[in-house]
Amino acid sequence: MKEKLNRTLAIIGQGYVGLPLAMAAVEAGWTVVGVDIFEEKVTAINSGLSPIEDVSNEQLHEAIANGSYSATTDFAQVAKASVITLCVPTPLNAKREPDVSMLLAAAKQLAPYIANETLIVSESTSFPGTLRKLLIPEIELLKPADAKNLYYATAPERVNPGDLIWNQKNTPRLVGGIDQNSRTRAVSFYASICDEVVPVNSPEIAEAAKLLENTFRLVNIALINQVTQLCAADSIDVNEVIDAAATKPYGYMPFRPGVGVGGHCIPVDPLYLTWWGRENGVVADLVNSADTINAEMPRYVAQRALNLIDGTIKNPRVLILGVAYKPGVGDVRETPMKELRNTLTNFGAEVAWHDPLVSTWEGTSQVGIDWDCDLAIFANIQPGMDIKRILAKGIPILDCVNSQFKSPNLNLL
Ligand SMILES: NC(=O)c1ccc[n+]([C@@H]2O[C@H](COP(=O)([O-])OP(=O)(O)OC[C@H]3O[C@@H](n4cnc5c(N)ncnc54)[C@H](O)[C@@H]3O)[C@@H](O)[C@H]2O)c1
Repeated sequence: MKEKLNRTLAIIGQGYVGLPLAMAAVEAGWTVVGVDIFEEKVTAINSGLSPIEDVSNEQLHEAIANGSYSATTDFAQVAKASVITLCVPTPLNAKREPDVSMLLAAAKQLAPYIANETLIVSESTSFPGTLRKLLIPEIELLKPADAKNLYYATAPERVNPGDLIWNQKNTPRLVGGIDQNSRTRAVSFYASICDEVVPVNSPEIAEAAKLLENTFRLVNIALINQVTQLCAADSIDVNEVIDAAATKPYGYMPFRPGVGVGGHCIPVDPLYLTWWGRENGVVADLVNSADTINAEMPRYVAQRALNLIDGTIKNPRVLILGVAYKPGVGDVRETPMKELRNTLTNFGAEVAWHDPLVSTWEGTSQVGIDWDCDLAIFANIQPGMDIKRILAKGIPILDCVNSQFKSPNLNLL
């Protein structure tokens, strides 16, 4: 068997996962071709403009200038690669069930160009069996006749956008290969990029582990959101309760309340788990319940915020601070602030938003932090927000993020 030694990596999907992976691979000495179907994005990236916060324009520019990175819409470019990773979205469909259509489309698009001896890895989050039952049959059907030996693995991405500590390099990487050769190659590929690779016995274990990780967060966030409502009903400060519980040195991990869950992972991946359960005749009712609690949180927050002005203003002007789903990112996918805004509007409020990391949101533009309002909600505190200016207004503020600012007009959720 002829070993392929070229260090060219093709990454399908140049978003929050694919682009940081590209930069980490460049850093590790790989030549990377980033394939994406979104032409405007490819053009912007090739001109040195990074679409995401975790990759700087300088970093991108340098990788392009020294020839170690380029983006393209041309799938034929994967022919040069010894490793291909799939980093495309796996959202929910209208029925809130797994939508793996982009993953399947990517597999079909790349398959005709794969060279013999290539390793193909799926990094996209999906239910157990996605690699073995969906992707491999598609690729095997469409691959060139001479691509006899292909290797397959799943290595779910764990990147946490906006995280200044944990990144592609220092986050341990799970790798599950379809067979021993695939596993060995995948481990060796990730070992060239990451400090620690954790081989597991099958792609299904890696796929299920990823769903478990994110479902763990969903359930714990729901628990603390529910405890928040229990504490508030009896005038107890939930954050003090959390701080107190967190002094226990084992068996407890503090989670904080908030407007709900957002982004591409926490609201989505657990529903891949519940769907997978249903397919196998198991109802994951704890997860369903957690999903419901979090989904209702924006309405609870809206009510708590409006209670601060106690019906004294007929159509209050309400400013939402931070509409991205978490600090440090401009990502508004699945953001719970959408439901918060809708609920406030339905209650008759005039709602505006401010977020230094988001340019436009749902076709609307933001207002300045000095917007004249009756009430403000700290939904997500972003770097660069001039919080002191809003505190100085003296209006009631609902602080949903335990911001640690001290002001008599600040009310914790
Ligand atoms: N964003 C996160 O924090 C995160 C963390 C861990 C895992 N994940 C998982 O990683 C995967 C990718 O997520 P993301 O956040 O990077 O998505 P993203 O939307 O930021 O980027 C995906 C890119 O894929 C492109 N794309 C879509 N279909 C394509 C196709 N057929 N061929 C080529 N490109 C295509 C899109 O144009 C987009 O640029 C998902 O499965 C997600 O669940 C995301």
